[in-house]
Amino acid sequence: MDRLKILSLFSGCGGMDLGILGNFKYLNKTYNQLPTEIVYAVDNDSYAVEIYNANFSHNCLVADIKNINEKDLPDHDILVGGFPCQSFSVVAQNPPRLGIKDEKGQLFFEICRILKEKQPRFFIAENVKGILSANKKRAFPLIIQEFQKVGYHVTYQVLNASDYGVPQKRERVFIIGFKKFEDCFKFQFPQRTTTNEKIPLKLVLEDEIEDKYFFSQKAIEGMLKAKKIMNKGRVQNINQPCNTISSHLAKVSLNSTDPVLKQDDSYRRFTPREAARIQSFPNDFILNVVSENRQYKAIGNAVPPVLMWHISGQIINLVIEEEKQKYSLECA
Ligand SMILES: C[S@@+](CC[C@H](N)C(=O)[O-])C[C@H]1O[C@@H](n2cnc3c(N)ncnc32)[C@H](O)[C@@H]1O
Repeated sequence: MDRLKILSLFSGCGGMDLGILGNFKYLNKTYNQLPTEIVYAVDNDSYAVEIYNANFSHNCLVADIKNINEKDLPDHDILVGGFPCQSFSVVAQNPPRLGIKDEKGQLFFEICRILKEKQPRFFIAENVKGILSANKKRAFPLIIQEFQKVGYHVTYQVLNASDYGVPQKRERVFIIGFKKFEDCFKFQFPQRTTTNEKIPLKLVLEDEIEDKYFFSQKAIEGMLKAKKIMNKGRVQNINQPCNTISSHLAKVSLNSTDPVLKQDDSYRRFTPREAARIQSFPNDFILNVVSENRQYKAIGNAVPPVLMWHISGQIINLVIEEEKQKYSLECA
């Protein structure tokens, strides 16, 4: 089978892209190479792209998608895009979430514009679960309608990364589009791989932690006082998957709602490597080409590669099955 050509929008540091390519190891498991190749990748965050380009043999461009003419893009079989989620996230209450009324919340129109022109066989879009309730539940049906208007049969599901061997309770909506109704009909979201036994956070923690990752005594006292009135200081149970990490990791404090760790009487943030492992990036994924703050941001924004690998596999299976059928008909 020829490799399926992938066009990647909003590529970030490449979580989705690594997942759809495969060929990586994570927690002693090998995620095989998939029959795919990335023919074009773009993101407007030059720091995330620096990480991307340190890890893949093809290049990601730094550009605003709005400035890219769809006619200049290469033909492809699958478009992937985790479009920006800040406008839909329930965490983003201040300023209040504007959903599709916000400029960033309208970036899915860029995906539609490219789909309309290029008509790939499939697309995979990803966003936060909050998109389902944004704009009083009006945004999501409108987004689905827009995808349908440009010629796609669409299905979607909320998947939790911790059901697929990732030590993080990260719930995200995956929207899958199909040119052919038959593909949409046959497609199934991947079966959970971890049912009872979820991967605990402790499996991805580092042993030697530099002092700079620990919070000061003053910050701890402030948090302990505030905790009596607010549910802050999100200390993680290391025997369970971690709560969702986000791009906010770059600004994590004991007064925010981000996950932190407690070791004896000390509290600390995750190291960038731990954050990457929580997201299921392999240990050899290069991070230190940009500052730690930029690493946290790009990693927190990413789609867990392991989860994306499972979803991609289900789409690729449709193509493989179709080829097998064709072959058996030709040989009959
Ligand atoms: C949710 S993140 C994508 C993460 C990526 N799919 C991954 O798995 O690593 C959204 C990305 O959209 C990018 N972005 C936001 N506005 C953009 C624009 N106008 N043009 C291009 N990229 C944009 C951000 O820089 C960010 O990296």
